[in-house]
Amino acid sequence: MTRKVTKAVFPVAGMGTRFLPATKSVPKEIMTLVDRPLVQYAIDEARAAGIKEFIFVTSRGKSALEDYFDHNLVLEQELMAKGKNKLLDILNKTNMESGAIAYIRQHKALGLGHAVWCARRLIGDEPFAVMLPDDVIAADKPCLQQMVEAYEETGGNMVATMEVPPEKTSSYGVLDVVDSIGPVIPAKGMVEKPEPSKAPSKLAVIGRYILRPSVLNNLNAMKTGSGGEIQLTDAIAEDIASGVPVFGYKFDGQRFDCGSKSGFLQATVSFALARDDLRDDLSQYLNDIVATGKAAQ
Ligand code: UTP
Repeated sequence: MTRKVTKAVFPVAGMGTRFLPATKSVPKEIMTLVDRPLVQYAIDEARAAGIKEFIFVTSRGKSALEDYFDHNLVLEQELMAKGKNKLLDILNKTNMESGAIAYIRQHKALGLGHAVWCARRLIGDEPFAVMLPDDVIAADKPCLQQMVEAYEETGGNMVATMEVPPEKTSSYGVLDVVDSIGPVIPAKGMVEKPEPSKAPSKLAVIGRYILRPSVLNNLNAMKTGSGGEIQLTDAIAEDIASGVPVFGYKFDGQRFDCGSKSGFLQATVSFALARDDLRDDLSQYLNDIVATGKAAQ
């Protein structure tokens, strides 16, 4: 039987340069889709998958992220006194159990693999999830929950995957597979950011992983890869080479790359259109703006 996955690592130590100047003082993960920060979507998805311990790998300038998870007693009392129960309910749903969140610092942005490795002592010797909050996935059944269910059947390592246009492979880790029938795809290799002509497939790895502790051991060597960074993809690929299976999981759902401006805007529109309180106004506005072609000056 596979051991239950109860810990998730959230590597959020990157600088978020694509959102400058906002990310000069606001961590990317605190930026909001409609009215919820990106990190709240990730936490909710993790909770639905049975995660009990949340490990954030942070860096300088991320204190707003840590503050976000504090109970705001003054605000709670104020809302209670005014009988604003709906707002209180929204607030309470974001409260985390004491001791459920841990923060560890990545002192230098040496790459995603290095960020995950920084959490090794908190992870210990058990399987763990990795979630990148800037990948937001809209799905009936949350993506990590789908993966945990599949992982309980397969064991090994599992990475979320989706097909991308061939010209986009150089932005992702890409799977080398024998065939890609069904949602669970055994991988025989993984390459970080291959040029389209060298990509072994169009199956890109996106920001959800379930990993075995052997991946942390592989990271001990601190080997640098693509872009001179210590890459998580390389450490997972090493597991394949040493006989630990790696599966791609083609999840059911729509993924938004909220680390890019365009993906963030698309997610904002999609999540707003899914809301009863915003749908009518926003779709009216979108129709008008498309018809007239008017943009903000
Ligand atoms: P990105 O490649 O999106 O980098 O990292 P970034 O710094 O967040 O954003 P840009 O490209 O400058 O706009 C992917 C994920 O890996 C984390 C990031 O925080 C993000 O969640 N990461 C990356 C780290 O935690 N540490 C690193 O050294 C590198």
